[in-house]
Amino acid sequence: MARTVPGIRDAVAAIRSEGRSVAFVPTMGALHEGHLTLVRAAAATGAGVIVSVFVNPTQFGPNEDFTRYPRQEARDAEMAGSAGAEWIYAPGFATTITVDGPSEGLEGAIRPGHFAGVATVVAKLLLMVRPDRLLLGQKDAQQVAVVRRMMRDLHLDEIALEVVPTVREADGLAMSSRNAYLGPEDRVAALSLSRGLAAAEATAAAGERDARRIEAAAMAVMEGTHGVAPDYAALVDPDTFRPITTLDGPATLCVAAKVGPARLIDNTLIRPT
Ligand code: PAF
Repeated sequence: MARTVPGIRDAVAAIRSEGRSVAFVPTMGALHEGHLTLVRAAAATGAGVIVSVFVNPTQFGPNEDFTRYPRQEARDAEMAGSAGAEWIYAPGFATTITVDGPSEGLEGAIRPGHFAGVATVVAKLLLMVRPDRLLLGQKDAQQVAVVRRMMRDLHLDEIALEVVPTVREADGLAMSSRNAYLGPEDRVAALSLSRGLAAAEATAAAGERDARRIEAAAMAVMEGTHGVAPDYAALVDPDTFRPITTLDGPATLCVAAKVGPARLIDNTLIRPT
């Protein structure tokens, strides 16, 4: 397990010396089945997999959950170890990468500086590891759009970005390290996000093309659930994250809500019928 940049580079060199490609899964630890699905997808082609675990302080706002974010290093090591977990420590840095466009709305508007923190640390990690492939989860759809744009702008586009579908609990709740904050009643209320998405999908499947009405279907489910304070339901272009007015091609419906002590997000791709 490497904790230094030379250590990471040695691990990557060892993979390459076996003639294997390098796949990279960045995480903030507190690993769950969603992360392991990324690791399995990364390994499926015979690639060597590097998993980074780094709770990046620069992507948390001053009143967010950085100090209480779940940390379970020993368990993470066990879970990711067979996949070649690499603990990456990224000490203080003075450089910031800001991505306009996809960073601006939704999570970017509610969490100022969040995507600059994400884009900067992902760029640093990519330059440390220099993988052939980067795997991210669709659960953080706006993060995917921001990272995609950053990779294009910084000419990191020889690295293939692979987006893996969201992994859900049996009842539909999207897996997230922050689900650990949910008490039993919150856990039930949290289903209003995936149920809201399903209601919006049904509305679109019935022929609705007005983006505001599709969003309203998701909002109604969240607003109607005790203990849920929705932040938004927004139908956006999957790449630019600009709001759309009419569903005339594939669009990402994103939802965010506070549920008890947790702030949760989810999304689905909606197509016109
Ligand atoms: O999705 C996450 O866990 C983080 O935002 C990431 C990509 C590891 C960057 O810190």
